[in-house]
Amino acid sequence: MKAMRVGILGTGDVGRSLGVGFNGLGHQVKFGTRDPGSSKVKELLTEVGGKATAGTFAEAAAFGDIVVLATLWSGTENAIKLAGPASFKGKVVIDATNPLVFKPGAPPALALGHTDSGGEQVQRWLPGVKVVKAFNIVGHAHMVEPAFPGGPPDMFIAGNDADAKNTVTEILTAFGWSTIDAGGIEGARLLEPLCILWVGYGLATGTWNHAFKLLRK
Ligand SMILES: NC(=O)c1ccc[n+]([C@@H]2O[C@H](COP(=O)([O-])OP(=O)(O)OC[C@H]3O[C@@H](n4cnc5c(N)ncnc54)[C@H](OP(=O)(O)O)[C@@H]3O)[C@@H](O)[C@H]2O)c1
Repeated sequence: MKAMRVGILGTGDVGRSLGVGFNGLGHQVKFGTRDPGSSKVKELLTEVGGKATAGTFAEAAAFGDIVVLATLWSGTENAIKLAGPASFKGKVVIDATNPLVFKPGAPPALALGHTDSGGEQVQRWLPGVKVVKAFNIVGHAHMVEPAFPGGPPDMFIAGNDADAKNTVTEILTAFGWSTIDAGGIEGARLLEPLCILWVGYGLATGTWNHAFKLLRK
């Protein structure tokens, strides 16, 4: 796979894990954040290493040949607005977000579902952009080189553009995943609840080393 420029909107755990992954494959990473000069971002760049840089959401989105959305759901629309929808024009956008609501003392829940999804909402915010839902069904620690005794787990993806899904599949393969295409972006309605299942199993068992696999014969 040829070296790409990857704009990652988000400086949390997902941004860091994927940044390390892309950097390790020789891609050039620029993180987008509201505060590029913060000590948190400086630490992130040190951790990720390589040629990784940080800038505003607009700078990171404009930089990327592809762009990754790794923002808190409640801040995602704002991050896209700050980036400026024109910065995404014609690009593959990997949507790793989950539309979660957090209530004290309760496990996270989905803010929308059944007849809509975060992936579809992102696609509406970015019309004409090639949005592919991916990476949302597993904890950040396993997003890159997911080593499990049963072999590579499956990453389900959803999006409307076949070429964009091929690009994301190539990335997932390089990261060590097997990929299953769950159809158009409305497939995000099925993928986002898998996050709740993943978290629920973790809360029930106190373990966070699991991932999904479809068995076939
Ligand atoms: N953590 C996981 O293991 C995991 C796994 C799968 C999917 N996800 C999903 O991936 C996304 C990122 O998760 P995360 O744990 O890495 O980090 P997070 O804490 O959910 O999000 C961090 C990022 O959100 C941005 N943000 C927060 N409020 C904002 C606002 N009002 N306007 C603009 N940006 C805002 C922050 O920007 P600043 O840098 O400017 O502060 C920061 O970069 C979430 O949607 C999460 O549900 C997480």
